[in-house]
Amino acid sequence: MKKISIIGGCGHVGLPLGLTLAQAGHQVQLVDLNERAVQSINKGVVPFVEAGAAEILEKTIGKTLFATTSPDVIRTCDVVVFVTGTPVDEHLNPRVHDVVKVINSYKSQINKNALVVLRSTVYPGVLEIIDAILRETFEEPLLAFCPERIVQGKGIEEIGNLPQLISATSQKAEDMAHDLFVTIAPKVIRLKPKEAEIAKLMTNAWRYLEFAAANQFYMMVESQGLDFYKIFNALRDDYPRAQHFPRPGFAAGPCLFKDTMQLSAFHKSHFFLGQSAMLVNEGLPVFVADQMEKKLGGSLKGKSLAILGMTFKPNNDDIRESLSFKLKKVLEMRMANVICSDPYLKDSVDLETAIEKSHGIILGVPHNQYLNLKINKPTVDCWGVWRKGE
Ligand SMILES: NC(=O)c1ccc[n+]([C@@H]2O[C@H](COP(=O)([O-])OP(=O)(O)OC[C@H]3O[C@@H](n4cnc5c(N)ncnc54)[C@H](O)[C@@H]3O)[C@@H](O)[C@H]2O)c1
Repeated sequence: MKKISIIGGCGHVGLPLGLTLAQAGHQVQLVDLNERAVQSINKGVVPFVEAGAAEILEKTIGKTLFATTSPDVIRTCDVVVFVTGTPVDEHLNPRVHDVVKVINSYKSQINKNALVVLRSTVYPGVLEIIDAILRETFEEPLLAFCPERIVQGKGIEEIGNLPQLISATSQKAEDMAHDLFVTIAPKVIRLKPKEAEIAKLMTNAWRYLEFAAANQFYMMVESQGLDFYKIFNALRDDYPRAQHFPRPGFAAGPCLFKDTMQLSAFHKSHFFLGQSAMLVNEGLPVFVADQMEKKLGGSLKGKSLAILGMTFKPNNDDIRESLSFKLKKVLEMRMANVICSDPYLKDSVDLETAIEKSHGIILGVPHNQYLNLKINKPTVDCWGVWRKGE
């Protein structure tokens, strides 16, 4: 069993991994700058929605799992995992400096025999850069890239069920990464560093393209005055090749957009499909606002509109990069009074009040609480939850 530090361990990527490793018997230190999250975890409270996390936290905290703001604990660790990735800047180019800065700030605490694992999505070539940085201090750095490919909120289940891609800058580090991940993943697949970096980006970009296709079809069909869901249901009915056709909806969150843009930067801005996907997915809130405007007689000025669901995905409390907030801005630009409601957000308006006080209701994200609502007011539902296309 290994002694493992996870830098950024109290976040959405770090915590499910930490819990899974701790449950497998490793000694895990979650190192995080976020004092509130550290305190919460040490008290046995999971700071965000993550299926199955509470049960494992209760069993492991203080035994094989510890959370701290102090980086000193990493000195004695056999493995140091970093979850910092490469976000994109205002020009949609990767901010490689972010991960470099974090590695530099912890470098002096890393043991020379420890395996350093990058866990977040990174721009292709970053592993090579980090390897060069580690070589300033270590003669033979042991560096691996083992990307996270979980669906947020179901990380624990997925780490245990999905194959783990691994890569490293030396055979020794690759074997160490293999030996670590076979303790928690059903299958470990070896790639070269750049291959693994691209594989992770392509995984997310593919998903983003799939959603864009569905969203483009939705806007194409509905702008002709046709019912998308009637056609969608018909084309999928007993037709095996259309079963993976995703439903339309806001494609948002901290990863899909960013990673598609990283791939675009990697391909010298010639990733036309990815760029088009971005235009389509980011355009959906505007289309939805247009649909509501039409339903309310051509103007939203002075109208009260409720958005139900503000998080970036259903049944989750994470609002990062949620397109419901973009929709809110679009509606406000048209001088509507916007009422935001979401059972996962403390300060939002409760559901009954939101419906009662509004002239029209837009489904921002289909939380379970909304699935069986019967609303006698104009609604827009691009997700196909209230309108069955029959
Ligand atoms: N959320 C996902 O499902 C997912 C999946 C794959 C990859 N990623 C990528 O992983 C990265 C992290 O995402 P996340 O969702 O876990 O973010 P998050 O904000 O939930 O967690 C990041 C954590 O790191 C901590 N942190 C930041 N800088 C630190 C530092 N210098 N030292 C110690 N702790 C520090 C923060 O306090 C936070 O708790 C991002 O690059 C993201 O794109 C996310």
